[in-house]
Amino acid sequence: MSFSFARSLPAVLLITVFAFAQSGNPMDQHPWMNTTLTPDERADLAVKVMTLDEKITLLHGTGMEGLSPMSPLAVNSNGGAGYVPGIPRLGIPALQMSDAAYGVRFSGQNGRYSTALPSDVASAASWDTEAAYEYGALIGRELRAQGYNMSLGGGTNLTREPRNGRTFEYLGEDPLLAGKMVASVIKGEQAQHVIGDIKHYALNDQESGRNAVNVNIDQRSMRESDLLAFEIGVLEGNPGGVMCSYNRVNGDYACENRYLLNDVLKQAWGFKGFTLSDWQATHSTAKASAAGLDHEEPGEIFFGDAMKQAVQSGQVPMSELDDHVHRILRAMFACGVVDDPPQKSVVDVEGGLEIAQKIAEQTTVLLKNDHAQLPLHAAKIRSIAVIGPHADIAMISGAGSAQVDPPGGNAIMPPGQGATVWNHEVWFPTSPLKSVRAKVPHANVQFDSGADPQSAAALARNSDVAIVFAYQWETEDTDLENLSLPYHQDDLIAKVAAANPHTIVVLETGSAVTMPWLDQVNAVVEAWYAGSHGAQAVANILFGEVNPSAKLPITFPKTEADLPHPTIVKPPVESTTHGDGPAVWNKIAAGLPPFQISYDEGVKVGYKWYDAEHKSVLFPFGFGLSYTTFDYSNLKVSPGKSVQVHFTVTNTGHMPGAEIAEVYAALPASTNEPPKRLVGWSKVKLNPGEKKDVSVEVDPKYLSIFNPDQNGWQFVPGDYIIQVGGSSRNLPLKQSLRLP
Ligand code: BGC
Repeated sequence: MSFSFARSLPAVLLITVFAFAQSGNPMDQHPWMNTTLTPDERADLAVKVMTLDEKITLLHGTGMEGLSPMSPLAVNSNGGAGYVPGIPRLGIPALQMSDAAYGVRFSGQNGRYSTALPSDVASAASWDTEAAYEYGALIGRELRAQGYNMSLGGGTNLTREPRNGRTFEYLGEDPLLAGKMVASVIKGEQAQHVIGDIKHYALNDQESGRNAVNVNIDQRSMRESDLLAFEIGVLEGNPGGVMCSYNRVNGDYACENRYLLNDVLKQAWGFKGFTLSDWQATHSTAKASAAGLDHEEPGEIFFGDAMKQAVQSGQVPMSELDDHVHRILRAMFACGVVDDPPQKSVVDVEGGLEIAQKIAEQTTVLLKNDHAQLPLHAAKIRSIAVIGPHADIAMISGAGSAQVDPPGGNAIMPPGQGATVWNHEVWFPTSPLKSVRAKVPHANVQFDSGADPQSAAALARNSDVAIVFAYQWETEDTDLENLSLPYHQDDLIAKVAAANPHTIVVLETGSAVTMPWLDQVNAVVEAWYAGSHGAQAVANILFGEVNPSAKLPITFPKTEADLPHPTIVKPPVESTTHGDGPAVWNKIAAGLPPFQISYDEGVKVGYKWYDAEHKSVLFPFGFGLSYTTFDYSNLKVSPGKSVQVHFTVTNTGHMPGAEIAEVYAALPASTNEPPKRLVGWSKVKLNPGEKKDVSVEVDPKYLSIFNPDQNGWQFVPGDYIIQVGGSSRNLPLKQSLRLP
């Protein structure tokens, strides 16, 4: 250790340096290995001894097959989407990144196994932050077991556009719900000593033309909607990474957008981790670096040699480079990946299935239940028709970089031929037919795929009950054309319902769907993409072994015509690319000509839009039925530093159940806000006849507006209305109060 280096360190660190030099383990001799120091102190110490080349190594990935040239160093990659070599001489491990939205990706091609949890939008339907923590913890454990130390999950873009093909990967339309849920997922992951990541920052709210589009939105609207979800996620979850998105926002690419990266994320929110670009979302060296981008993925077009030259020529100051490196190292120290590296082991398959099922039972939403059609009384049933594409063997999953590979391969392919193909339907071997049969071994349970609606209707006519499993498949890179069920499933359901008055529809969707047949069926269950043990969870709900408690994290509109933008703005030909491979990705890196979307609905995302526009909806945000009933009473609102909302919830039915009690606020008219916003909730478990007093504390920020002139949150004195109830459109308790 050179004298000049020692002299530049504060006294306390100096003592540590010499204390560690006494230890026998050569790695321990590095002062930054002292775990009593803070992650910032440790990162500082390491940065100080790094060469320029070592610093540059940490600033970019090593390529991705089919996308960008592969560095020879990539040979040590664990097979995930991103690999950054470590610095062995300093004891800094490599970063092994894997996509992990609802489970760990690429297990198929790596010969491993991963649990598929219910999709992210489903997890938001539980409104259960403890379940979200479990969700993250399972992902963290399986990442570690497979040799990864960083997750690329954490999708938090708001459902501003329900036709967005990645809606299944996100956490719904409300910033408070999405922010709280992602924060818990990240805490769960990072507790397992993997770096958590939150993405795609920001306003990547449609897939069409994602590499070219320029999103136009005013500052107040973005801070109160999409960015608020990230703000809560960052402040409460403390992720090590934030992935910036492909699109442009108000003129600049998100990954070279000073406002998003430096001004808001790093300065206003105090984010201490590192920003990484989405895969080929970096478009410059000096501009991106100065704007706050710390790390390029997947290759090194801008942050490799080009960065080295920019530093050497003084175009990028050394202090800026050091800040990027510091942030990456800090995340590694803070999340424990240096002190407790992953230990490869066999994934806990059984434990994972149990958790996936338990979570699916909390994420399945009962949307309609006329004539108490559900739960089904097993003892009374003699025959059931199970109808729908592949419902004999499997349930659908969400595709793209979120895709988890099913054990045994894609269940609808012949054994041995079920390799996962990018952006193709992948079905999980969790069989609705078998799960229903297991509940009624004495009954005649028959299957019809629905390919011929007449034959399905004939089976339904001769059965006590008909259950139709209908699906809508989503994938990254493509938006849904509309919200209709594809492949004539609307017609199938209508024909089955006409043949059997006891028809139940189970939806496997990633987003909202329209339901022209709704009046004709008795019951509708939204199972989303239900994960590895989805069918078992759905059967438990259908037969009443589990009382549904989930509530919609997105509004189901009546028609696309009611959306803020009845049609999705598609890119012009010059802003699109076709195919894959380095040539295409270089074209994307160079920058495609922009096309414009104006989010002129602003803060009116989801229910805020339908409320403000006085539109009726099919199913409102926050809606979900139970097999029991709940009553709300005794609202008391106490003003104070944060507003306290007290009320009583009573189970007035005959089954134990859990109620998600939602608290909304209407802001003073002078704020010009939509009619109401979610400000808190509580999930209350109650036995029949039981009542509980509930208190919800409302953070003053959730009652504030964002004031761009003051560049901060502003509480506006005036008349507020607090409303409490079981969905955004059923709020029996109301109290007005003047604040402050
Ligand atoms: C996706 C990211 C993903 C990355 C790496 C991109 O296409 O947008 O969500 O993490 O690829 O696979």
